[in-house]
Order: sequence, then C-alpha cells, then structure tokens
Amino acid sequence: MDWVKFYDFKHSIIYVNARHRDVHYRTIAQDIRRYVPSPAARVLDYGCGEATSADIVADAAGALTLAEAAPNVRAALMQCYAGNAKISVVTPEQTAALPAASFDLIVMHSVAQYLTSAELDRLLGIFHRLLKPDGTLIVGDIVPPRLSAPAAAIALLRFGARNGFFWAAFFGLIRIVFSDYLKLRRATGLSHYDEASMLARLEVAGFSATRAPRNIGHNQRRMTFLARPSQA
Ligand SMILES: C[S@@+](CC[C@H](N)C(=O)[O-])C[C@H]1O[C@@H](n2cnc3c(N)ncnc32)[C@H](O)[C@@H]1O
Repeated sequence: MDWVKFYDFKHSIIYVNARHRDVHYRTIAQDIRRYVPSPAARVLDYGCGEATSADIVADAAGALTLAEAAPNVRAALMQCYAGNAKISVVTPEQTAALPAASFDLIVMHSVAQYLTSAELDRLLGIFHRLLKPDGTLIVGDIVPPRLSAPAAAIALLRFGARNGFFWAAFFGLIRIVFSDYLKLRRATGLSHYDEASMLARLEVAGFSATRAPRNIGHNQRRMTFLARPSQA
C-alpha cells in the first residue's frame, strides 16, 4: 500500500460521507477559482483527487488540466467531465511531457505531504518548466511540524459543524483511527515543512514565493504558498 493506492480505493475513509466530499471539493474549487488570472488562463490542478467541483474552476478559465496518479480516480474524472470541453484528465507522466510554458496557473493542493522532499523538489522543477514566465504556482495545504493530526481532527469537526455533517465527521474520525490511513501514516509518515523551509525550497527551485494569508480549504493551520518564477 502506498498513498496513491490508498487514494485510489479508500475514499470513504477520508471523506466521512458524500456530503463531506462534495463540500470539501466545492470549498477548494471556490478558493482556487479566485486565483485564476483571466478567462483565457490555462490551469493545471496536480493531484486533483476526485475534484467533484472542477467545473467551478474550469468556468473561470480557458482550459483546466486535471492530473491524477490514481487510475480509478482518473477514470472517474474522465467519465464525469467527458462532456466538458475545457477539462482534460492526464497522468503525472503525461503532465511531465507537456511543452514548456503550458500554464498560467499550476495548483498542487494537499499532495506535498505524501511526497518525499526529493520528489517534491523534482516536481517543483517540472512545474517551473511548465509555467509561463508570468505564471503562478500555488502549493497548498502544507502541513507544519507538530500536532498536525489533532489540528486536522479539530478542523474537520468544525468544518462538519459548519456544513451539517458534525456527527458524520465525529464517527468518521473514529473510523479513521482503525483504518489503513493511520497504519500508512505511521509506516511512511507525512512530510512536514515550516514556513521558512518551504519558502527556501521554492527559492532553490527558481521561484520567488510568499505565504498566502489563508490556506486553501478548511484547515487554516496548514499553509498555502504563492510562487512565481524568479526573473533571471
Ligand atoms: C488528499 S488528496 C488531495 C486531492 C485534492 N488535491 C484535494 O485537495 O482534495 C492527495 C492526492 O495526492 C496524490 N498523491 C499521493 N502521492 C502521490 C505521488 N507520489 N505522486 C503523485 N500524486 C500523489 C493522490 O493520488 C491524491 O489524489
């Protein structure tokens, strides 16, 4: 079991019910939409997951590419968005093979924690090549060191309370304790970065970056970074 396989088959564990999943993806899509720079913008959402509200982002953009490593999730995305001419679905390998300067906006939200730091650096290099010189990279949901699990649990309960699924969130958390998620988390760990180390990583990868005032999504203890290719 690795994280890609986990996300390919175990959606019901992470999303406590369908309402949670849909509110989660709608919240993220609404947040990402605010960063789309123009109606003609070409946008990449890397590690998009089930992306059940990707049409919200696509409506504000010229084209939206959804990159997802998990094959079953990718198949579901293809089926869901077959009728939307703005949305295409690709593998990570197909993403890496795209021409330079393909995108105005690249978003990678809630993925970096599942990558080793070497994998993250490699991806930042790919994103640098794929971004237009005036484009923006958004790296969201960066998990800071210390107490990330209790903070995530509290954030989920609050999100549930605000959106009518508090008890489902409560029982979902109990289910998670006995799930593969915690086993995998214990076995492989999650990658954590504090603000300074993420800013330094982005700088080494050729970006000039700042921390956004708010994280994308519901967990405001995690961080979002906005990065632009540094001018040579
Ligand atoms: C928590 S989901 C994030 C989905 C969506 N971006 C969101 O914010 O809800 C984590 C995603 O990371 C992807 N992922 C995990 N490990 C990966 C890897 N090594 N390479 C590429 N994607 C990976 C999974 O396939 C999954 O879609």
